[in-house]
Amino acid sequence: MRIVFAAAEVAPYAKVGGLADVAGSLPQALAALGHHVSIHLPLHGTIDRERFGIPTDAVVRSVPYGRSHVRVAYPSIVRGGVRVVFVDNGRHIGRATVYGAPDDAKRYALFARAVAEDLAQGGDRPDVIHAHDWHTALLVPMAAGHYRRALGGPATVFTIHNLAYQGQSAVDVVGLVGLPRKHVHPEKHGELNPMARAIASADAVSTVSERYAEEILTPEFGNGLEALLAERRDDLWGIVNGIDVDVFDPFADAHIPVHYSAVDMRGKAQDKAALQKELGLAVSARTPLFGVIGRLVEQKGIDILTPVAPEILRAGGQIAVLGTGEPRYEAMWKELAERHAGSLSLRLGFDAALAQRIYAGSDMFLMPSRFEPCGLGQLISFRYGTVPVVRAVGGLADTVRDADADARQGTGFSFREYAAEPLGDAVRRAIRAYRDGARWSALRTRVMGLDHSWAASARRYVEMYEAARDSARAA
Ligand code: GLC
Repeated sequence: MRIVFAAAEVAPYAKVGGLADVAGSLPQALAALGHHVSIHLPLHGTIDRERFGIPTDAVVRSVPYGRSHVRVAYPSIVRGGVRVVFVDNGRHIGRATVYGAPDDAKRYALFARAVAEDLAQGGDRPDVIHAHDWHTALLVPMAAGHYRRALGGPATVFTIHNLAYQGQSAVDVVGLVGLPRKHVHPEKHGELNPMARAIASADAVSTVSERYAEEILTPEFGNGLEALLAERRDDLWGIVNGIDVDVFDPFADAHIPVHYSAVDMRGKAQDKAALQKELGLAVSARTPLFGVIGRLVEQKGIDILTPVAPEILRAGGQIAVLGTGEPRYEAMWKELAERHAGSLSLRLGFDAALAQRIYAGSDMFLMPSRFEPCGLGQLISFRYGTVPVVRAVGGLADTVRDADADARQGTGFSFREYAAEPLGDAVRRAIRAYRDGARWSALRTRVMGLDHSWAASARRYVEMYEAARDSARAA
């Protein structure tokens, strides 16, 4: 099949969150199965053209935008068997930040149209167009609507990585890219909501775990789109994310000081000592070290973790935090780090290399999310023999089995109710297991043996593409 991806962020070129990891690695897994795969992403200002060998000469096209046209260039490279097309229009699309500009809705609408134009003018006739999250959502109604003939009637697939961000705006972005305004659902909010438009018009809709696919049908997790999603239930798929097992590999990772594997874990102990030193924590082999990597926002459970952190330290633990987030949480954690120097370290920012050293050097990984479409931190932790402590929600519920509830097959520690008390209890249970040497090493070996590579999930995507093609043909 000829499969075209479009996403706002793609690792390793531009990464804000897990979307980039998926958009970077799933296309390669599909290419490895023998499909022709390409991906379009914006040429963000932060992308290092030289490092990635992005050519300066490229096809330039004129893209309709509102009542005028804008010129867009499409330099491309090939990596891992996938053609990567950088959509370059400095003023609108390629800015220094991926998200957060007041005109994001407009510039991503333009990006979506620029992708459609590139495919149409280039004479590409993809079998499947696969858009991700609200930023590229309008590509779906375009490919199913006014671009359908020009693109040869492709099937359209839309993947929800996070339903909390839908791209609504007061600006008529749909009109800007030539789409008619229309309500996608009896409740009128759908009209200028890119995510709702994609959910309504895609041949197949998916999300990144089976549990989240069920959760989003309820008001608690549906973010107002639960009724629309329920209408699409027959075409709604839940496919758990994989990770790039070559990037996250304690036996080959260039960012960690000492390599190790399940058969010889001595390197992990050295990595822990090195990490404690690097972060200014007391160097101590027997102190349970908890890693926290991610955005310090409510989604990630930071509000219930904040009161539990002092408890972890009192119980003799250490915590290493890496991430950025809401100013009020950053301030609270700065204060905690000052008060508990030597046992709590805080690095504000994103640093992929340090992240890998934290995955490797920690004993446990904390992820008490309020909601979690899939979550990659727990999967990466498994790979490094680091035991996750998670809330049983979304993809975390699908991938982590509580080791007290299931002694033979447990892979971490989990709790249900979103509150500090049950999180504290899960942490205490994890520390108890950690203090039991034989049990802990069995648990570590077990999680390192789990297979969360893309192989199985990439096959499920192909099944979904085939189903989407059948319904596109029937339409
Ligand atoms: C979003 C979700 C996260 C998921 C990632 C990749 O960041 O919040 O749960 O793992 O997308 O699909």
